[in-house]
Amino acid sequence: MSFTGRDILSAADLSRDDILEILRQSEKMEEIVKNDKVSDMLSDTLVAVLFLEPSTRTRLSFETAINRLGAKAIVVASADSSSAAKGESLADTAMTVDGYVDVIVVRQPLKGGAEIMADAAKAPVINGGDGAGQHPTQALLDLYTIKKEKGTLENLKVAMIGDLKYGRTVHSLSYALAPFSPTEYIFCAPDELQMPDYIVEDMRKRSIPCTMTSDINEALQADVVYMTRIQRERFENPSDYERLKGSFVLDRKLVESGSKDMIILHPLPRVDEISTDVDQLPNAAYFRQAHNGVYVRMALLAMVTGKV
Ligand code: NCD
Repeated sequence: MSFTGRDILSAADLSRDDILEILRQSEKMEEIVKNDKVSDMLSDTLVAVLFLEPSTRTRLSFETAINRLGAKAIVVASADSSSAAKGESLADTAMTVDGYVDVIVVRQPLKGGAEIMADAAKAPVINGGDGAGQHPTQALLDLYTIKKEKGTLENLKVAMIGDLKYGRTVHSLSYALAPFSPTEYIFCAPDELQMPDYIVEDMRKRSIPCTMTSDINEALQADVVYMTRIQRERFENPSDYERLKGSFVLDRKLVESGSKDMIILHPLPRVDEISTDVDQLPNAAYFRQAHNGVYVRMALLAMVTGKV
């Protein structure tokens, strides 16, 4: 299926073939960057980068991808510098920006908000994170990293640790990996921050065994250990955050007690859930993971504009 004009809203919308094609194109983009640094593939393309929530990696790697492909960007880097602060609806923002650009990349706090914008805009919309919903481009770069580090996406035991309730990256990762027959998902969280039921049910429907635990030692038997930050900004009650922060801290000793070949991923930013003494271990792949975001986002931009 062609990607031209397609919205990228949720990892649940992507088939196995879609994902493999995106990863293939990402490899080509990595080659372009390694060999030539830049290309003029998208020199006629203008991209709106609307970030109405904080971001370092997602926004900067999209902007890097845009620059490396010779495209141009118009950027909103915070909600308070846009008309969102005046109460403008997402649909109105989308209908306006749609008349300016060829692609819209958006991050905003409302779950389902990217879909609202996609319904209002003709240009393809790429979801850069919709509140506690989805973060599909992160999941794709996670898969790109897993494939590179482990040599395969198939038959892996994958542990997701931390705030699985509000963490959109793990929601998307669960769906993105599902077509590759994971042998097990280990969802490791405090009870209150466990993976939402609708996702666990969807995974079980796809015949993926799901283990729910709050014991990090159980999670460290996995091939892929995906750490996440407790999502402070999503808590209604700050005292709940205070009680739950610091629930899991992965340190060198814990890593050494777990499965020898595990790779450790984290979408970043980290707060204190991975101690810095882990960073030098060969298992620690999270900064390599962040770098891979550029290639995957280059591929997505080129695909939705019909350039590849
Ligand atoms: C994540 C996000 O924004 O959901 N960050 C990212 O995009 N790399 C994870 C997080 O903020 O904890």
